[in-house]
Amino acid sequence: MNGDFEDYLKAKVSLVDAALDDWLPSPGEAPGSIHEAMRYTVFAGGKRLRPVLCIAAAEACGGNAASALRAACAVELMHTYSLVHDDLPCMDDDDLRRGRPTCHKVYGEGMAVLCGDALLTESFALLAKSSPMGRHTVGDMVSELALAGGSRKLIGGQVLDLEGEGQQLDKQQLLAIHEAKTAALLVTSLRLGGMAANASPAQLKALSDFGESLGLAFQVIDDILDVTQTTKSLGKTAGKDVAANKSTYPSVWGLDESRKEAERLTQVALDALEIFADRGARLREIAEWMLAREY
Ligand code: IPE
Ligand code: IPE
Ligand code: MG
Ligand code: MG
Ligand code: MG
Repeated sequence: MNGDFEDYLKAKVSLVDAALDDWLPSPGEAPGSIHEAMRYTVFAGGKRLRPVLCIAAAEACGGNAASALRAACAVELMHTYSLVHDDLPCMDDDDLRRGRPTCHKVYGEGMAVLCGDALLTESFALLAKSSPMGRHTVGDMVSELALAGGSRKLIGGQVLDLEGEGQQLDKQQLLAIHEAKTAALLVTSLRLGGMAANASPAQLKALSDFGESLGLAFQVIDDILDVTQTTKSLGKTAGKDVAANKSTYPSVWGLDESRKEAERLTQVALDALEIFADRGARLREIAEWMLAREY
């Protein structure tokens, strides 16, 4: 990662963290226990990939970070809720997330379910207060987020992931899971950034194409890292996919093939950015960062 991009990333992450701190209920507000649990999971770290994509997409469309900030925080809250529920004993049963004990380990299962519910609800509350100008309405944005989080996308993907445990899935089935559980929210993060910046239909289409391939590459890499990295470096339990008998890219096609597929998909993603010319540079850097990541 070059120094300039590292500085860019740090600046955007600080902006998002400060906004989340501002907008999330404080632990002093009753009931303090749920607000504490929400903040524990949101501020545990994490790459903040989705909010950074949202902001970089707004910039690629000629907008700025400020206009996309509510959308950026909203997608991070939806993502964080999905992780809290993904880690529950009835789902992937993980004890560690973002380098800390998972929400249910610290606050109990009931509270973790409610914490996820509250983060999800808060994501819509935040986004509903956006004020996009021009082509797109707040209603369009809220509807976009709802579709990404619903049973046709994120939840649908989690359902297929759960039902696929112990099954030998083919490439099409695996692709469908990745598209729904992971790529859809990346696509929406980008599109919401674009919508906040009055993106044209052609720009939105390019952001969708970019996000689709980036999202698929992202989940292939997540599955590779699950096999190749340590629990310490991941900040979540390594080797979970094999333990849960999940079909993944590496388990079906091996590590070399998976790596090649992630590289191919990243290249397809990069090709979709042509329309943005120089203004797409940050999105390009983000895709390269994701491909090279080790956690
Ligand atoms: C993990 O997402 C869940 C997947 C969709 C694979 P991230 O790798 O973006 O998790 P954080 O936000 O950095 O913790
Ligand atoms: C998670 O996929 C996808 C969502 C949370 C929607 P994984 O189950 O592979 O994510 P990790 O590896 O636990 O982060
Ligand atoms: Mg899972
Ligand atoms: Mg998991
Ligand atoms: Mg995983």
